[in-house]
Formats: sequence, structure tokens, C-alpha cells
Amino acid sequence: MRDAAVRSPQARGSSAVDASVLAQVDAVIERYRGKEGALIPVLHETQEIVGYLPRCVQSRIAGALRIPESQVYGVVTFYSFFAMKPTGRHKIGVCLGTACYVKGGAAVLQAVKQASGADVDDVSSDGRFGVEVTRCVGACGLAPVLSVDGDIYSRVSPDSVPEILARYT
Ligand code: FES
Repeated sequence: MRDAAVRSPQARGSSAVDASVLAQVDAVIERYRGKEGALIPVLHETQEIVGYLPRCVQSRIAGALRIPESQVYGVVTFYSFFAMKPTGRHKIGVCLGTACYVKGGAAVLQAVKQASGADVDDVSSDGRFGVEVTRCVGACGLAPVLSVDGDIYSRVSPDSVPEILARYT
């Protein structure tokens, strides 16, 4: 569970990271210091704390673990579960694969942008939602499909979007 101070960088949509948050990151690094294969668990726990992995945090981790910054960057960009930008507390995915597109996915996306206040690959100003477009999620028979934090919503109409998003505070 993250506290308000931890969420604040996301809420601001800024790359700035509070000193109190950095102190928590340092504590994570300290727990793994000297252990083999420390980088990935450190990155995981750091992302839990900060919400994402900005370059300044990657640099801090590299320095503390005494590994090249390029190695940290390489790992962060290789794995899709690591994010270098704020992602929002709730991640909305709008499928624009062929079946969803044909069934009105673009209108659903428009409704999501309007209801969330976030553009594609962006975060709403209150840090509540991050929006991304996805490719086929394997539920074409249920098109158009929308996901929020992994919950799949099927046969979504633009009108139903505000009600769906209201479930995520
Ligand atoms: S195209 Fe959207 S689920 Fe397949």
C-alpha cells in the first residue's frame, strides 16, 4: 500500500521525486546490496514505491549497486512491466485491434479520453488514470473491449464509459 507522499510524483505527472520517497528507495537498495541478481527486485520494489522508474532514480540505483547506468536502463526498457513515465493509479487500455476497431473502438477511446481527462500515453492531471491503446487482447468476440487495471469490459459503448471509470477512485 502506498502512502500519499509516495503517490505524489504520479499525481503531479512530474519527474521530480520527493526526498521521502528517495529515502524509501535507498532502504530497498540497502536490503539487496551485495546480493546476486539484485537489480530486478530492486527495480520492482522501487516502481512500487515511486510508481515508475525515471532516469534520476535509475541513476541512483546504478550508483548504489555499482553497476553501469546503461545496464539499468537496458533492463528497464527491455521488460514491459517497467515504466519510465508516470502511469496513473489506474491503467486503462482501449483495444484498437481490428475487431474492436470495426465495432466502435475509436468512439470508446474518445469517450475514455473525455471521461478520464487523459490523452493516449498520458496521465490525467489528478494522477488517477493512465490511458493506452492496446492491440488485440484475445477477446474479439466481445468487441469492443476496454480494460481497467486488468479488469476486462466487453461490448463497451461510449455511453457506458463514465460509469465504468467511476468504479476506480
Ligand atoms: S481486436 Fe480487440 S480483443 Fe481482439
